[in-house]
Amino acid sequence: MSYEPVLTARIGKIDPASLTDYEAHGGFQALIRAVELGPGRVVALMEEATLLGRGGAAFPAGIKWRAVHQAEGPKFVVANADESEPGTFKDRVLMEGDPYALIEAVILAGFATAADKGFIYVRGEYARAYQRLRHAIARCYEAGYLGRDILGSGFEFHIELRRGAGAYICGEETALFESIEGKRGYPRLKPPFPTQAGLFGRPTLINNVETLINALHIVLRGPAWFNSIGPAHSPGPKLYPLSGRVQRPGLVEAPMGITLRELIEEHGGGVSGSGEFRVALVGGAAGAFLGPDHLNTPLDFRSLASIGAALGSGAVIVFDTSVDMKPILQRIADFFAHESCGKCYPCQLGTMRQRDIIARMVAGQGRPGDLQLLRDIGQTMRDTSICGLGQTASNAILSAFELKLT
Ligand SMILES: Cc1cc2nc3c(=O)[nH]c(=O)nc-3n(C[C@H](O)[C@H](O)[C@H](O)COP(=O)(O)O)c2cc1C
Ligand code: SF4
Repeated sequence: MSYEPVLTARIGKIDPASLTDYEAHGGFQALIRAVELGPGRVVALMEEATLLGRGGAAFPAGIKWRAVHQAEGPKFVVANADESEPGTFKDRVLMEGDPYALIEAVILAGFATAADKGFIYVRGEYARAYQRLRHAIARCYEAGYLGRDILGSGFEFHIELRRGAGAYICGEETALFESIEGKRGYPRLKPPFPTQAGLFGRPTLINNVETLINALHIVLRGPAWFNSIGPAHSPGPKLYPLSGRVQRPGLVEAPMGITLRELIEEHGGGVSGSGEFRVALVGGAAGAFLGPDHLNTPLDFRSLASIGAALGSGAVIVFDTSVDMKPILQRIADFFAHESCGKCYPCQLGTMRQRDIIARMVAGQGRPGDLQLLRDIGQTMRDTSICGLGQTASNAILSAFELKLT
């Protein structure tokens, strides 16, 4: 099926610094249309489109937009641009190549929800994206897209850019709020949910960068167009960051639900290294390994959930038959032990115990019962951790043992 990219259409074709270039390539048309339609209709379009959040949790965007739209102000919009999931670089490409699109999307979300202010929380390591966004925000103030009476609508809106400091946990929405508020990035207990009490305790719409940019196209092309792409249960354009042992690694835009095989063979040019597929890590470190039996699995939220995996950010890292998987598992276990924020014991202790057990197994000093121990730790973290980090910290490792990768 031929597919015309939309999310990445301008990337590589426009000068990311130039507002006039952005405008000449359809930029700010969605905001102009949104102002014509009015906030209520924009929110209705978002509800009609089955846009599931692209940050990993797959929560319907329209429900959040409606809740914040209806809430009493002051309220906020936050773009989650922390993007720290291993193997994930989709938001980076969007922000570096088309920074005005994210700014337009945040203004549009602010207009639809009658928010007072927007924040873009950018991963600390993304220096180029940060600089480009900073420049673009300044240009938008000069041109009247930000500030008072935007496009003559009477709507006033401001955007503040914030940088993370290298903590994976600060991508978790409530830890991100804490970080913006100047505190240590500890996740909060939910409920209350961000739409009720988010940033500074106020109703907050938080969406991933890719989710927000999809909103521009939903407003411009309509929900019917959006829902016609990919499977009905989770439609729309999708970005798949593809890396590892493929001939052509990079960011792939495709209809949601292409298969793992299509992604690797058609978009990635096939497996490199030995040329023989061994396994792919789908969804980043919080995801799961999928072997050759799952090459025909559609890469969408529901299909992956039905086999006990997760789409997460959409990242796919491919391994060929020549790769020694032991250091890979060690790296994943180290990652979670290092990034656990320590707020709750199951994750604080569980990720450390998991790391230590993997270390001795990798060193050839595994003990009888180690695998069962890993399963017990995984189950405990999944069932009792406060946030998604602990709840997913054992997924990839346990899936590797299921596939007998070591
Ligand atoms: C440990 C952890 C890290 C996360 N990192 C990110 C991230 O970098 N970017 C992101 O958009 N969502 C991240 N999330 C998900 C957010 O908590 C939240 O679900 C998302 O920002 C909501 O946006 P969406 O509905 O558009 O997906 C993370 C979640 C967890 C538990
Ligand atoms: S699950 Fe882990 S990262 Fe999340 S709050 Fe608990 S200790 Fe922190």
